[in-house]
Amino acid sequence: MKHKRLATVILAMILAAQTSAAAASPPKIGVCIYNAADTFMSSVVRQIQKEGEGSAELTVMDSANDQNLQFTQVLDMLDDGVQALIINPVDRTSAVYLIRLAQSRNVPLVLINREPSADDLALYDGAYYVGTDPKETGYLCGELVADWFAAHPEADLNGDGVIQYVLLKGEPGHQDAELRTLYSLQAITDAGFRTQMLGEDTALWERSVGQEKMAGFLATWGNRIECVISNNDDMALGAIDALKAAGWFTGGRYMPVVGVDATEPALEALRQGSLLGTVLNDAINQGRAAWKLAWLLYKREPVTSENLGYAMDANHRVYIPSQKITLDNVDTP
Ligand code: GAL
Repeated sequence: MKHKRLATVILAMILAAQTSAAAASPPKIGVCIYNAADTFMSSVVRQIQKEGEGSAELTVMDSANDQNLQFTQVLDMLDDGVQALIINPVDRTSAVYLIRLAQSRNVPLVLINREPSADDLALYDGAYYVGTDPKETGYLCGELVADWFAAHPEADLNGDGVIQYVLLKGEPGHQDAELRTLYSLQAITDAGFRTQMLGEDTALWERSVGQEKMAGFLATWGNRIECVISNNDDMALGAIDALKAAGWFTGGRYMPVVGVDATEPALEALRQGSLLGTVLNDAINQGRAAWKLAWLLYKREPVTSENLGYAMDANHRVYIPSQKITLDNVDTP
């Protein structure tokens, strides 16, 4: 009898210890980055980690540009009991499967940077998106070019009243590549300039590919190129590498090159006078908004623009605003 009572007391103590351990252990939140080698996205993920530190057990996975690997990673994290997910899809057209998967486990999902279609996002009440408006970033990028040519008529090297450009595109099918391209050209046209495309090619967001593609454009078009439009900074810096190797940016030879992101190396190039301008792709606020969303969703709180602190549209999308960055405001906090 005595032994039985003792056993009950011990069992009660064990259960109490387990319960308090469970209460004290932080929630598990899973994060996937499409490719950890990507300059801009790594800074977004760094910000998410910073925000989550101390409140959650964050697992961060590099999907290494492989959508199948990412599905496996997400499955593993779900099996491991994550309570919310923040995913940067490898392929935005596969977001629908990620959404269905999270829904099947009743785990909220914040997609970042690679935007699912509105229809896909609407499939699951617990699915949200954080990114930028590609039309806005594209348009601002085009304005950088238009502003330059308006202030520098001599930049029209052959004086034909037409801007001869080459364009480095992000990966095909990515909303930021397709729409930034369209809208940057739209802004130049809206400012009253005519344009002629000499060359356009994808450089997959990468500096080394940008350099290679720009070297190719230079070999074909040389001095006929009057400006370089790039969908992001890494490819713009690659173009600058190729231009420098071919003798630009010394002895008064200048080429206007514009990008998007405002990464640290790009801001440095801007200060040094090679990059003409860039558009802020706000990694800090994108990381912060993604984290805040995941946190509210984990707590099963209804999300509004007010408690999130960021404007959210009726389709569960949060677009962080952008702005042009040039020498005039690069060091303005
Ligand atoms: C874009 C960004 C690129 C690259 C890409 C990845 O928004 O401008 O530099 O990070 O996302 O999806």
